[in-house]
Amino acid sequence: MADAEYREIAERVLPGGALGTRLNPEGLRPTIASASGSRITDVAGTEWIDYVCGAGALILGHQHPAVVAAVQRQASRSLHQYGGLSDVSIELASELIDAVPGAERMVFAATGSEATAYAMRMARAATGRPKILKLEGGFHGNHDYAGIAVAPPEPSPYPRGMPFTAGIPDPVADTVLVAPYNDLEKLSAIAHEHAADLAGIIVEPVQRIIRPRPGFLEGVRELADELGAVLIFDEVVTGFRLAYGGAQEYYGVRADLAAFGKIIGAGGPIAAVIGKAALIDQAHPGRIGTPGYVYVSGTLHGNPLAAAASLATLAELRKPGFYEALARRTADLAAGITRELETQERPAIVEAVGSLWQILHIAEPPIRYTDLLASDQAANLEFDVELLRRGINVIPGLRRFVSAAHTDEDFAQTIKAVAAACRTMKGPQ
Ligand SMILES: Cc1ncc(COP(=O)(O)O)c(C=O)c1O
Repeated sequence: MADAEYREIAERVLPGGALGTRLNPEGLRPTIASASGSRITDVAGTEWIDYVCGAGALILGHQHPAVVAAVQRQASRSLHQYGGLSDVSIELASELIDAVPGAERMVFAATGSEATAYAMRMARAATGRPKILKLEGGFHGNHDYAGIAVAPPEPSPYPRGMPFTAGIPDPVADTVLVAPYNDLEKLSAIAHEHAADLAGIIVEPVQRIIRPRPGFLEGVRELADELGAVLIFDEVVTGFRLAYGGAQEYYGVRADLAAFGKIIGAGGPIAAVIGKAALIDQAHPGRIGTPGYVYVSGTLHGNPLAAAASLATLAELRKPGFYEALARRTADLAAGITRELETQERPAIVEAVGSLWQILHIAEPPIRYTDLLASDQAANLEFDVELLRRGINVIPGLRRFVSAAHTDEDFAQTIKAVAAACRTMKGPQ
């Protein structure tokens, strides 16, 4: 089928013909047919350099041979079972516990959203308190408790936040407190004011592309301890991305619970909540029917196909020097783009943390969500669309990823596309 036919069908049966929230301009909505390494190919045969990388799930790039082989092997053994743990799922659970600093126990989930929802539920159950404090601009997935102050168009009226979606019942929204990221003073004041109700604090250690100020994560850790609240790190992006032990290893701060997804599913449906046994054991099936029992279960939990992909991925990530090389290469790309932006006198910077990066039209690296609000967001989006026009696959306005499959040739083409985007945005000279 030709692309136009796929588009016609998609637009008839899916809202906006889109997957989720992304509606690129007309002509920039390719139907993807295949992928390999750093590239994706659409049904028209056009190749794109892919920095979306499965929304960050594919740290090795697309179709890594070891991962494909593991999936093929597993597909011939067992695609799925429920009610009995598979061998590969147990192996994976053991690897994950070994990897995450301070981890004692874990539960499987299928998506990052499920993992953050379970972590919040565990925090509420353990403390007997109803409220979770999240940070403005933080993203924790698609459930109602995550849907507050995600991308508000104006600064939040702390400790309340604007719902990102219709359909969140007010009593649920009332249980979510909001504070600014990287502002320990404000966060601490809000947490103290609501201490009696505060079950947990959930933080993306690197919030989207905003890095934590020195001492911020440590300060949140101390605050949670002081108030008897559960500290939850949302490591769905940072887990196995910044380091093998995620942000907890990278920044040397331990959470009580951490939610993982993306890389640990290697493109398949595996996520997890990993942390302290006392919190995770609330999901012990032997406690069903007792007041403290926390329900964690799902048809796809521990999915063996995804577990096999994950085990193959983790084996690659454990190879010496993997993370150093990935960060070095991302820094090289960022430096190349920065040089081009300077040469072209574009008022933009490249933010890069580990293998995360983004081009922002902003004077200084952002510290809070409101800095991003105050930046030239229209220019950020327009610039990213110009990159798309030149075959560089990014999600406009969102941070992106370098994978181990990206080559020097990819980087050279990306920097060329940046130069061309700068010239286009400057308009005719
Ligand atoms: C930090 C963070 N948490 C949670 C999620 C939700 O994960 P999923 O899309 O697998 O439900 C995402 C997804 O992008 C994320 O970036």
